[in-house]
Amino acid sequence: MALTAYDLSGRTAFVTGAAGGIGRACAVLLAEAGAAVHCADRDADGLDGTAALVEERGGTARVHVLDVTDRDRLGEAVRSCERLDVLAAIAGIMHSSPVLETRDEDLDRVLNVNFKGVLYACQEAARLMLAQGTRGSIVTMASGAVDTGGAGLLCYGAAKAAVVQLTKTLATEVGPHGIRVNAVAPGWIRTPMTERHDRAAQAHTEAAMTRLTPLGRVGEPDDVAHAVLYLASDASAFTTGQILRPNGGVAMPW
Ligand SMILES: NC(=O)c1ccc[n+]([C@@H]2O[C@H](COP(=O)([O-])OP(=O)(O)OC[C@H]3O[C@@H](n4cnc5c(N)ncnc54)[C@H](O)[C@@H]3O)[C@@H](O)[C@H]2O)c1
Repeated sequence: MALTAYDLSGRTAFVTGAAGGIGRACAVLLAEAGAAVHCADRDADGLDGTAALVEERGGTARVHVLDVTDRDRLGEAVRSCERLDVLAAIAGIMHSSPVLETRDEDLDRVLNVNFKGVLYACQEAARLMLAQGTRGSIVTMASGAVDTGGAGLLCYGAAKAAVVQLTKTLATEVGPHGIRVNAVAPGWIRTPMTERHDRAAQAHTEAAMTRLTPLGRVGEPDDVAHAVLYLASDASAFTTGQILRPNGGVAMPW
């Protein structure tokens, strides 16, 4: 297949969580592939940094400072796109607590950001794509946590499992209109999220993840961004309702 299948020239992408880590890498790569990118996040300074990177590479970026749990504000931002071809719903937070110590407020906070924040973005984007009557691609952010479980990952994993269900359900509902919906479920990726642990704990986890991962390293944000570009572009034109796992082989579910 010609590489033009990855070309996003003339298309518009909306990326949440675009101020740093994986979301920033996605915004920059989608822009490099030719898309005009709308970058949304609650971190205004981080968004400016992403927009500068996009522009340095010759792309165009518009920033939206918002919280993805604010449905109205998010809807307004999505609808401000003149047209929308791609949504990458990447924003998320980490939370870890043993099941027996998990409080309602932990569960609510993580479900609100990691599930409802993705749901609201998907609803707004799909409505806009349906109204346009054009093809579209929606990429959601799950996690390897849905494959591996893991101590402390009740809230985080439950939200990501809900994202997987959302992805499959929406893919079924909007597929007949030419809108594709897929998830990425990365393994351990070196980002501000994973670097927030103290240095010793992080080095220990990275060493353990490296040992457990057949490809012998932890991931980088670009490893995920390339998977997102594939799903966003015509290269994946016959792929919907799927989970793509840029995880170095650490989990190999059917
Ligand atoms: N890093 C990993 O190992 C890994 C693995 C699997 C999945 N993920 C997922 O990838 C996504 C990105 O993670 P990352 O590692 O780049 O983390 P990160 O913390 O580096 O980036 C997350 C971004 O989301 C933004 N954000 C968080 N809550 C928000 C809210 N309520 N409204 C708007 N913006 C908000 C943050 O400001 C930040 O810019 C998350 O959904 C995460 O769960 C990460």
